[in-house]
Amino acid sequence: MSTLSKQVKAVSAADFDVERIREDFPVLKQNIHGKPLVYLDSAATAQKPFAVIDAIRRFHEVDCANIHRGVHELSQRSTAAYEETRAKAKRFLNARSKDQLIFVRGTTEGINLVSNSWGRQNVKAGDEVIISAMEHHSNIVPWQMLCEEKDAKLRVIPMNERGELLMEEYEKLLNPRTRMVAVTHVSNALGTINPVKQIIDMAHAAGAVTLIDGAQAAPHITVDLQELDPDFYTFSGHKVVGPTGIGILYGRKSLLNAMPPYQGGGDMIKVVTFEKTTYADLPYKFEAGTPNIAGGIGLGAALDYIGHLGIEAIAAYEHALLEYGTEALSRIPGLRLIGTAREKASVLSFVMEGIHPHDIGTLLDRQGIAVRTGHHCAQPVMDFFDVPATTRASLAFYNTFGEIDALVAGLQKVKEVFA
Ligand SMILES: Cc1ncc(COP(=O)(O)O)c(C=O)c1O
Repeated sequence: MSTLSKQVKAVSAADFDVERIREDFPVLKQNIHGKPLVYLDSAATAQKPFAVIDAIRRFHEVDCANIHRGVHELSQRSTAAYEETRAKAKRFLNARSKDQLIFVRGTTEGINLVSNSWGRQNVKAGDEVIISAMEHHSNIVPWQMLCEEKDAKLRVIPMNERGELLMEEYEKLLNPRTRMVAVTHVSNALGTINPVKQIIDMAHAAGAVTLIDGAQAAPHITVDLQELDPDFYTFSGHKVVGPTGIGILYGRKSLLNAMPPYQGGGDMIKVVTFEKTTYADLPYKFEAGTPNIAGGIGLGAALDYIGHLGIEAIAAYEHALLEYGTEALSRIPGLRLIGTAREKASVLSFVMEGIHPHDIGTLLDRQGIAVRTGHHCAQPVMDFFDVPATTRASLAFYNTFGEIDALVAGLQKVKEVFA
């Protein structure tokens, strides 16, 4: 990074009024085991601001009705609020059209929709699907299932000891049999920000389709789909301070139009007879049944909230937190950071000599500090680094430098217990 961009980042991080922002998050104002909660598990799920909580409550209190089907006032209101989220997601992702945005339960369902619908139609025996060594299980298992069913081959882009993908190895993996390249934008286990633009361009040059798992990118860095130009991109609402059970799958229109529906049922049809059904236009072809209406409306409030803070300001502040945390943790003797990529977001994963991560997590919890321990749904990453599990502190824009100090002090106490 240039000195100038470092300075710009430092200035915008200093301008970030985290104490005021924390007022918006009621859950943060509590003690756990008699200590102020230090929530460092936002990569698992982010906390929710009043704006989101209130939007969901208002829907149930004032507007509650099923969508798309009613002429009555409540149905019209709830339909409008739900559909407004699609327009907000279009702006959030800089997508071309809101018809390309499909509501799903989350990233997992987004990937399963593509592997089942596009995958079953397009992947044949002998074809290849490329993923990377740092994928979340939700971007491994669906492709593995598809490859087993179709007798296709799953290929894996390797990474180095820092947790960076080996792009020259990726280049070697690409070949005329490559049908799909499915890679995470940001790794949940390591924090690595992958060069997805380059990954997508190389895949397209080889004639392959691309899917980017945006679960850990959407909350932390700018996602510009017109610039990246992936074929599919998906993220979860609950990681961008929205509710659980709702997310977005973006798809290229020509591909979505050619794909069969993922599920059948109400709302995804034009005409049904016992002889034949014709399907609704995009995006409804992929949205069978009553959706998570309250979740969709809550997601809209979350995207407004993030938009109001500004994703660039969030990224700059979180980057400053990450650098501070990286330095502070590196000074602890016996602590080894897992994931030291040059481009990173939000995640501090580590192991400590002679202390199991579950013990670290439990002892930190007694001090009010919430971190995640385990394999983070990325068992191959643990295998690569030859560790059974890690402790992961994951940051969000409502975390403070003081909370990182609390983590460091907490880890000193853990060391004392095990001394
Ligand atoms: C990188 C990544 N991909 C996919 C997922 C799955 O997201 P969800 O459980 O919301 O479907 C997660 C969740 O932690 C993730 O971190």
